[in-house]
Amino acid sequence: MSTSIESVLHENRVFNPSPAFVAQANVSGMDAYQALCAEAAADYEGYWARLARENVVWKQPFSTVLDESGAPFYQWFSDGKLNASWNCLDKNIEAGLGDKVAIIFEADDGKVTRVTYSELLARVARFANALKGLGVKKGDRVIIYLPMSIEGVVAMQACARIGATHSVVFGGFSAQSLRDRIEDAGAVLIITADEQCRGGKNLPLKPAVDEALTLPGTGSIKNVVVYRRSGGPCNMVPGRDLWWHDVAANQSETCEPEWVEAEHPLFLLYTSGSTGKPKGVQHSTGGYLLHAILTTRWTFDLKPGDVFWCTADIGWVTGHTYVTYGPLACGGTEIVFEGVPTFPDAGRFWKMIQDHKVSIFYTAPTAIRALIKAADINPGTHPKHYDLSSLRVLGSVGEPINPEAWMWYHDNIGGGRCPIMDTFWQTETGGHVITPLPGATPLVPGSCTLAFPGIMAAVVDEAGHDVEWGKGGFLVIKRPWPSMIRTIWNDPDRFRKSYFPEDLGGKLYLAGDGAVRNAQSGYFTIMGRIDDVLSVSGHRLGTMEIESALVSHPLVAEAAVVGKPHDIKGEAIVAYVVLKTARPTGEEAKRIVNDLRNHVAHEIGPIAKPDEIRFGDNLPKTRSGKIMRRLLRTLAKGEEITSDISTLENPAILDQLKEVIK
Ligand code: WTA
Repeated sequence: MSTSIESVLHENRVFNPSPAFVAQANVSGMDAYQALCAEAAADYEGYWARLARENVVWKQPFSTVLDESGAPFYQWFSDGKLNASWNCLDKNIEAGLGDKVAIIFEADDGKVTRVTYSELLARVARFANALKGLGVKKGDRVIIYLPMSIEGVVAMQACARIGATHSVVFGGFSAQSLRDRIEDAGAVLIITADEQCRGGKNLPLKPAVDEALTLPGTGSIKNVVVYRRSGGPCNMVPGRDLWWHDVAANQSETCEPEWVEAEHPLFLLYTSGSTGKPKGVQHSTGGYLLHAILTTRWTFDLKPGDVFWCTADIGWVTGHTYVTYGPLACGGTEIVFEGVPTFPDAGRFWKMIQDHKVSIFYTAPTAIRALIKAADINPGTHPKHYDLSSLRVLGSVGEPINPEAWMWYHDNIGGGRCPIMDTFWQTETGGHVITPLPGATPLVPGSCTLAFPGIMAAVVDEAGHDVEWGKGGFLVIKRPWPSMIRTIWNDPDRFRKSYFPEDLGGKLYLAGDGAVRNAQSGYFTIMGRIDDVLSVSGHRLGTMEIESALVSHPLVAEAAVVGKPHDIKGEAIVAYVVLKTARPTGEEAKRIVNDLRNHVAHEIGPIAKPDEIRFGDNLPKTRSGKIMRRLLRTLAKGEEITSDISTLENPAILDQLKEVIK
């Protein structure tokens, strides 16, 4: 969104942390922030080792800190042993928090369930024993395809407890997407639910698992465990499918954790890249958990009395780090919400903040923009009708937050007093890498400000050299950090090429985003992806994936997908399609648009449906046959092409591609 980048670069409003906030903050004041950065700069390994000893409980202490011998396959704390679930549950119970509420679950229909740390541990242990009973062992991959639920957190924690590597698949992904992930991960078991309840509707979930398991490549799955959420119709395949309540019944409430090596893969999470199929981002146990804990404490200033609410689904990395692991490992109380922000009306988030006295609230700019609009249309849902005085820290994640949305969030939700943490990070980074700290960093709307202490973020040119502040370039991280991606599952070569490209010298982690640092303050502003990855409502999607889905339709010969700025979703998906038959018009074109959108939903999931489809007899190509995406982006925005098109083979195509089918 170039317009908002412009406005951020010229933004001169600065919001300093209040003295009262600074006084109580976990990182108190800019001096404290700078002292941490200086400590890391002076003794990088010593800094992380100190934090790892102070924040994570190790069954076997580590003696090696960073092992660079296999670079870029870095290892952290590799001779240490620990268990992530023990660090999230038992550790807190031993510290006397057994009766503290760990999770406040609010169902779609408003029903509230509270679970204490002791109860959560008992549920995790029972389910972990059930998984063991089904033969799941350390290192096995388990797919979790569940709605937002206590069971979702329990399933993930239970895998961690027995050393199984979980791979959560977002409930909005299709059977085909599920199949791809099952095959790539070689998973042995799927945990799912009969239905998911969202927005007052019961939506089937299990049928997608059934369909996926009819497809080739899924033979590794031995069992499907089904959580009965709605009690709606649910086909159960004898011998393969088992009810959660049956397998967990009569299990012991104690389960000795599997003490795993720090590098043991805690999870795989599939995410979109610029080419090919989604990649299985592999995370470690020790380094990942350390960063989940540190960022929860420092970025959100989590304290014992807080009620923390991250609205992200566990199907995304934000739901991993800031629902399943970070807040629990810090002994916090958190909200898990099953529903959607607009049901029963767009005041739902504000009502929940009021009802549960939420003090830390973390959501995506898309949600904020949608709720601003909803409050305009239906003033009854405006946040001013709710008591939001419990809030003290706000967060934003997943996409750039435009200064207008930032100000609205600040004034209307934060009552002008709550700092907003614009957290930049990625599935691959495990946790925040560029973010303000609420008791330290002066805030500028639309900027994610400065690197998290110890993260060596920089902006470089095509040769990997630092660019001056004020000049744009590639966002990189110069040194390996504990919670970084370890590899791409089954594809170490792609890992090396995607993240440590030779052109940059092979040692810099390439984030895939463009960035610029403010010439005076050095604050980072993210300029968006430099590859063909879109951020649609904060969901990461590869244009190539959507293109492959389109060309798998029997009518389609060729397709090119680009993003265009969208007021609410951040980016909208525009697809240019060439059919095998003549270019369709009128009613026929509308019908085919509809078919293609449904086809993409079937192949990937409804989140990937193109917002617009345009037809041409061909795509704009250079004489060597390369699609000129730059032109497609200009056309998508509805702008005139003013740049040089002399290398274009077929300029006449451009006129066809201007036509939007309504
Ligand atoms: C984008 C989500 C601007 C960015 C945690 C990144 C952001 C991609 C921000 C990762 C932010 C995330 N400001 N852009 N605060 N946070 N992004 O893997 O393009 O789903 O590369 O992780 O989201 O998306 P992912």
